[in-house]
Amino acid sequence: MDQSNGYETISKNFMSLRSRSNIGVATVHDWTATLSPNGSVLDVGCGHGIPISGALIDQGFTVYGIDASPSMIAAFRFRFPNALVECCAVEDSQFFGRKFDGVIAWGLIFLLSPDVQANLIRKIALALRPGGGFLFTAPRQACEWSDNLTRQKSVSLGSDAYRKIINSEGLTLVDETEDEGQNHYYWVSKPSNVANKRDTERADAPLVCLDVRQEMIYG
Ligand SMILES: C[S@@+](CC[C@H](N)C(=O)[O-])C[C@H]1O[C@@H](n2cnc3c(N)ncnc32)[C@H](O)[C@@H]1O
Repeated sequence: MDQSNGYETISKNFMSLRSRSNIGVATVHDWTATLSPNGSVLDVGCGHGIPISGALIDQGFTVYGIDASPSMIAAFRFRFPNALVECCAVEDSQFFGRKFDGVIAWGLIFLLSPDVQANLIRKIALALRPGGGFLFTAPRQACEWSDNLTRQKSVSLGSDAYRKIINSEGLTLVDETEDEGQNHYYWVSKPSNVANKRDTERADAPLVCLDVRQEMIYG
């Protein structure tokens, strides 16, 4: 069964497009400036590692990657033989038993169902060291659309709902920015002095499908 939300099927096309794109790297550089130098970063939905994991490795971070597409993981391992990668769905990853200085999810969260998104944020909150950072992309508005490559349904819970989930896990949404490809970023931090807080409060599913540009821009 395909757990990559359609990405395994279009992996060749995706890798070819993404390998020619540096979109996201400048934001990742700004983000890593907020992390402990030479720390460990988990790249959730890492794809074949280009350009995001590659940028992290070039900066001296120890990178762990999770992706459910076997073809992408094979390409990742070929390119970065020293990185630790797991080919599985985020729902099943063993890496959440570890602690990280940073977690990044570029182009992943909105591929997951709302429940899985909330569960993933909870697991990330637990896996982050105090003072650690979490960066993810998802549209600012609550909306649903068809992924431009796989045609599968994507769902953004929107800024208000993400903030609620983030806060309920004891994390803080510190900023929201856009990159040169109009991808929207959520900058999240784990306070250095606060233990993980478990809370039953959860955001509602998105209510509207807005007529806005919601395709990930690769180049
Ligand atoms: C839009 S791509 C982004 C890849 C990479 N982060 C990048 O910057 O190019 C989304 C990735 O998420 C992976 N993916 C989708 N659903 C997943 C799941 N449930 N668990 C793990 N990986 C998943 C896909 O295989 C694909 O590589």
